[in-house]
Amino acid sequence: MSPIFRLDVGPDRLATLTFDLPDKKANVFTRAAIDELERLVAELRGRTDIGCLLLQSAKPRIFIAGADIDEIKNVTDPQIAIDACQRVHRLFSEWERLPYPTVAAVRGTCLGGGTEMALACTYLVVSDRADLRIGLPEIKLGILPGWGGCTRLPRRIGIAAALDIILQGKAVPGRTAFKLGLADALLPDAAFERLARDFALQRSDRKRRPARHRGLAATLLEGNPLGRAVLFSQARKQTLKATRGQYPAPMRALEVVRTGVSRGMTAGFAAEAAAIGELVTSTVSKNLVHLFQTMEDAKKAPGLPGGEARKIASTAVLGAGVMGGGIAQLIADQADLPVRMRDIAPQALAGGMAHAAQLFRKQVERRRLKEPEAKRKTALIHPTLELAGLQACDLVIEAIVEKLDVKQKTFAEVAKRVAPDAILASNTSSLSIDLIAADTPNPERVVGMHFFNPVHKMPLVEVVVGKRTGPVAANTIADFARQLGKTPVFVRDGPGFLVNRLLCFYMAEALHLLSQGHTIDELDRAMLDFGMPMGPIALVDEVGIDVALKVAHILSEPFGDRLPPAGAPDRILESGRLGAKNGRGLYRYENGRRTVPDPEVYALLGITARRSEADPAKLVDRMVLPMVNEGARCLAEGVVASAADLDLAMIFGTGFPPFRGGLCRWADQRGLADVVAALERLQAESGPRFAPSEALRLAQRAGGFYARDGRAVAAGH
Ligand code: NAI
Repeated sequence: MSPIFRLDVGPDRLATLTFDLPDKKANVFTRAAIDELERLVAELRGRTDIGCLLLQSAKPRIFIAGADIDEIKNVTDPQIAIDACQRVHRLFSEWERLPYPTVAAVRGTCLGGGTEMALACTYLVVSDRADLRIGLPEIKLGILPGWGGCTRLPRRIGIAAALDIILQGKAVPGRTAFKLGLADALLPDAAFERLARDFALQRSDRKRRPARHRGLAATLLEGNPLGRAVLFSQARKQTLKATRGQYPAPMRALEVVRTGVSRGMTAGFAAEAAAIGELVTSTVSKNLVHLFQTMEDAKKAPGLPGGEARKIASTAVLGAGVMGGGIAQLIADQADLPVRMRDIAPQALAGGMAHAAQLFRKQVERRRLKEPEAKRKTALIHPTLELAGLQACDLVIEAIVEKLDVKQKTFAEVAKRVAPDAILASNTSSLSIDLIAADTPNPERVVGMHFFNPVHKMPLVEVVVGKRTGPVAANTIADFARQLGKTPVFVRDGPGFLVNRLLCFYMAEALHLLSQGHTIDELDRAMLDFGMPMGPIALVDEVGIDVALKVAHILSEPFGDRLPPAGAPDRILESGRLGAKNGRGLYRYENGRRTVPDPEVYALLGITARRSEADPAKLVDRMVLPMVNEGARCLAEGVVASAADLDLAMIFGTGFPPFRGGLCRWADQRGLADVVAALERLQAESGPRFAPSEALRLAQRAGGFYARDGRAVAAGH
């Protein structure tokens, strides 16, 4: 077997140890890598011909990406996880105690276990390349830095700065790492290798690393027990608020860091190992690891067979409203491409440009973009009232009013002006792609590109494949969505596509519950506690009461008895309430911010007696199970190709709690037999709309949505 680490010792007593995991793009700590490193360290301990050792990576853009994710995924025995941690603790401590200094030469991304090994080096130097990130993202996988990170990082950069990185799972650029004191030097990338060697040579035989001064305020606060107690108690409060008690890892990390700080390194390592044993085998961690791998798979997904994605060079967006303005800005920002933004109303164009300018300004304020770059990117957006000038565009994205006849006419008109194979995408949220393309020649190039609001924040794009949509158009849109930093999921054309179809069932049920006397507070709290980022009633306000009810009416037609309109809310609309956009909704608003539920709403709905449900799980069932039921139908109809795709779309499109792994995974973990039984009970209590679908029963008999790798239940794309 080819070795994973290569050791070279020069006549100047500078040794380099190069990490190069064979046949992989990234260095990760596989079991074999750890075995080999153990043997190496035993040998290195006795070498007297070494004055300094430089640890480097042979991979171009990656230093060390961390532990092997498959090992994290597969471990089910806490003791095995604890043993593995302790073994690495011993290894890194021996590395730390080598009789000469070590320098981690971090020229590419360095994450998790990579950062933990770099922390065990005497010195750390980092390149200034823009795409480099160094950090500890373990929290995002439901675990914590358990190879010494929780114990060593606070000693290196101070408690507050360490907690900031550990609790948020942050990875920072080289410049920030240097400012924080995580790196001892920031080296220009062009001369990185030479400068890193010079740095190491100058420190030959200087094993003691001079301590960096961290400033008076930090020393005062962190240097005494009282200050530290205040710091930890504040961090605890913030963490509890942010996680609503749903994510155990950040709270455990706080305890572990505290142990390491107050009781010494050995105690810190023991606390790390114990916490890893507990967390890595938890359902939350398994779900987060599953989500991570689904995201990675989505990045590499091959697309639809029969046609390659095309490269896009010039684009146009039709409509400069909420969505069009956002999409144009995203294209200029992320794809760095020219984009014509066309609207029929000059004030809409002005609004679209102002929106884009504001987003760029924010990026400059946050130092993500330099002022001249922001100006250059803003200038890529060309506002126009004309359709002329579209000839050169190879992609046109339509985001105009949600009216079928207007969209049909626009598509036919645009088709005449662009090349016959230019791709025409619609951002429609409820109209059929097939119908939109009805009057368009070469309809194989018409496809849905469904963004979510707000465009710059929401990570999902549904790529809507109509009956006549060709693979080139669909794959090009998926690729382009990735270029825009979004995650694409292929869905079939059909009412509400995937995400809005499921959401509609959820919001409709929330409105039924409201009409039946449940309070806004209790409904929203139940779903917030379940882990949704926003309660369903607040969501109705956000979407707009007018829009929500219009969509509900449109969808109640194809879905019939399954989605009976919750009639009474029409009265709310008649009272002039549109939701957040006009500051009057089911909630009250002050200065544009949602405050408290508006009690007048109950009178409008004619509710006199309030009902209150002692068990919030029952409310959750009523709102979430209809989505599961309908999700099963979507899979059976082939609206979405797999349970994993469905889960990804729900997490990225609606904020369905990531720690639950997704709608299907949540249902599987509960057991589909139990889900079916609960729906049957609801059917008896509350009506036929809850009847378990045949598709759900089939999935149950198959052993769950994810039986046979999560790809089997769908009818196939
Ligand atoms: P909006 O009302 O903010 O903007 C629509 C814009 O289109 C207006 O500026 C209007 O002047 C312009 N327009 C109308 N007819 C036009 C034409 N023939 N040519 C060029 N411009 C024309 O609407 P919004 O919210 O941006 O929605 C646009 C599309 O995006 C709709 O199809 C909607 O269903 C979809 N969508 C909306 C989402 C939302 O949350 N607002 C989410 C996802 C999709």
